[in-house]
Amino acid sequence: MKEARLSDEELIEKIRARKEELGSRLLILSHHYQRKEIVALGDFIGDSFELSRKAAQDRECRYIVFCGVHFMAQSAAILANPQQVVQIPDEEAGCRMADMADIYTVGSAYRQLEALLGSGEVIPVAYMNSEADLKAFCGENSGIVCTSSNADKALKWAFERAQKVLFFPDRHLGHNTGFGLGLSAEQMLVWSPDKPLGGNDPDALKRARLILWDGFCHVHTRFTCDHIKQRRARFPEAKIIVHPECPREVVAMADAFGSTSRIEKYVKEAPSGSTIIIGTEINLIERLALAYPDKKVLDLDRSLCPNMFKINLANLFETLEHLGEMNVVRVDEAIKAGARVALDRMLSLA
Ligand code: 13P
Ligand code: SF4
Repeated sequence: MKEARLSDEELIEKIRARKEELGSRLLILSHHYQRKEIVALGDFIGDSFELSRKAAQDRECRYIVFCGVHFMAQSAAILANPQQVVQIPDEEAGCRMADMADIYTVGSAYRQLEALLGSGEVIPVAYMNSEADLKAFCGENSGIVCTSSNADKALKWAFERAQKVLFFPDRHLGHNTGFGLGLSAEQMLVWSPDKPLGGNDPDALKRARLILWDGFCHVHTRFTCDHIKQRRARFPEAKIIVHPECPREVVAMADAFGSTSRIEKYVKEAPSGSTIIIGTEINLIERLALAYPDKKVLDLDRSLCPNMFKINLANLFETLEHLGEMNVVRVDEAIKAGARVALDRMLSLA
């Protein structure tokens, strides 16, 4: 492949020239966890909520090249206009957490819960980090999609409509959000997909409000309370902010938590000279450290998302050379319609 032999500088120059040539017909969306050189070439950088909103709003461009992981590009393809084409530079850039829930096991869990509790008693809420058919399942069953920046609003929305919520796939985001809404530990149960009734006692399920799929993100469950204790001992002046995909005990010990954009804002707004320690993916932390040299920005531990890292200058350039052809993200029309309902509900949350 001839592009692979080009130096980074040459690739950057060629990508810039291609962007110039295409003007507003091209929109490069880039997630905060992308390599810094990819972020620098993006037209819009954001967390997964902001990126989906941008894809839903931009009606001018013909091509959306999504530098992120597959579920994000897929959501953009669902929200884009039919004449817009969404492409991802590497189709293999998946999300290990999203792979922990599938339509068959979630459907089975939902049916078991309905049989036990009654029809309409449980609302399904899908984290954005999930396949399109699970989002469609939510759309078709009075449910909603959420991201880490609006999970509290989405859960409130769901609890206004039913007593119970089935939340998938990230148990930690669900747990942290439920806790923030005032639910007690007893009101939140974990559903193990390979066990009958998710491994729960029927009476405990009748008492529960929030049923959490047993999924998690390896990048964020790596952070522990020991990391926080060690960092606090060494940097007593520091503020610690973590992503809500971290386990509850880590979030509880931190000074703040939030989506990737909230983390960026936290660093931006911190006074000059302050120390901020961050528990999330390392590419975002390193980029913030470079962007704010007047502040000490450190990682809680080094944790990299290998899927986000799959997008690079070479495959971005190759995609721009094959617009409308390479790695086009396609979603079955019936699934798209259902998923769009659930995504639109999320986009209209106040
Ligand atoms: P954000 O919605 O905060 O950008 O997070 C997406 C993600 O995948 C975090 O691991
Ligand atoms: Fe998925 Fe975790 Fe990577 Fe986010 S950081 S894309 S949740 S594997």
